[in-house]
Amino acid sequence: RIKRVTAPQIASRKGDTPVVALTAYTAPMAELVDAHADLILVGDSLGMVVHGLPSTIGVTVEMMILHGQAVVRGSRRAMVVVDMPFGSYEEGPEQAFRNAARIMGETGAGAVKLEGGSRMAPTIRFLTERGIPVMGHVGLLPQATHTLGGFKTQGRETDTWSRHLQDAVDVAEAGAFSIVVEGVVEPLAVRLTDAVSVPTIGIGASARCDGQILVLDDMLGQTARAPRFVRRFADLGAQADRAIADYAAAVRDRSFPGDDHVYR
Ligand code: KIV
Ligand code: NA
Repeated sequence: RIKRVTAPQIASRKGDTPVVALTAYTAPMAELVDAHADLILVGDSLGMVVHGLPSTIGVTVEMMILHGQAVVRGSRRAMVVVDMPFGSYEEGPEQAFRNAARIMGETGAGAVKLEGGSRMAPTIRFLTERGIPVMGHVGLLPQATHTLGGFKTQGRETDTWSRHLQDAVDVAEAGAFSIVVEGVVEPLAVRLTDAVSVPTIGIGASARCDGQILVLDDMLGQTARAPRFVRRFADLGAQADRAIADYAAAVRDRSFPGDDHVYR
């Protein structure tokens, strides 16, 4: 049996070779990612990417558990981290523990991730002291889209940097084993990386972060629009469109099924 990557192993990668992370929401995609990545995030981005929701606000614990189970089944080596969805942890440490324990217990994941800086530090400490590894998430916080008024790159004004730095330091000191740094100007991502003792995992951040993460469907070219920080490593959406168009034409002109695809 292959042993899973653990939270302490990820934590020890600070300043080492970059941590490779990607999202996955299904068993077959998890199997593909598992062959190459250290960490698989079952992100609440699944609300938008696979369920067609307008934001991550409507994602539920039940949805995260269902996809978390699929990803754990589809992977063997990579650490699986499941996002805590909006409304499942913000009331306080006890609510967060109750939902995180359910997510961990029902999926077999190795950790949970939750959004927020200094104000989430007591919750992160409460969970880590009780056996639940926590990945932090600072910078642009998608679950705060309504209070922020959209997705805005953070740190454009340097007078906000000290607040962002305090957020990351507090999350790390509360016991997070790594921190996602999302949507911040590049020099701030470097400062954040230098300020904390655990690996920063960048997305729309900096190559100087201790690792990188992208939404799998974005980097595979399966989503219609992707943020500027995404490199399209493939164009699967266009390939799927061509394949479906070819199928439709073959059905209409009766060239499918052909001799090879029927039982004689
Ligand atoms: O939900 C998600 O996919 C995420 C990553 C983009 C970090 O939180
Ligand atoms: Na997320």
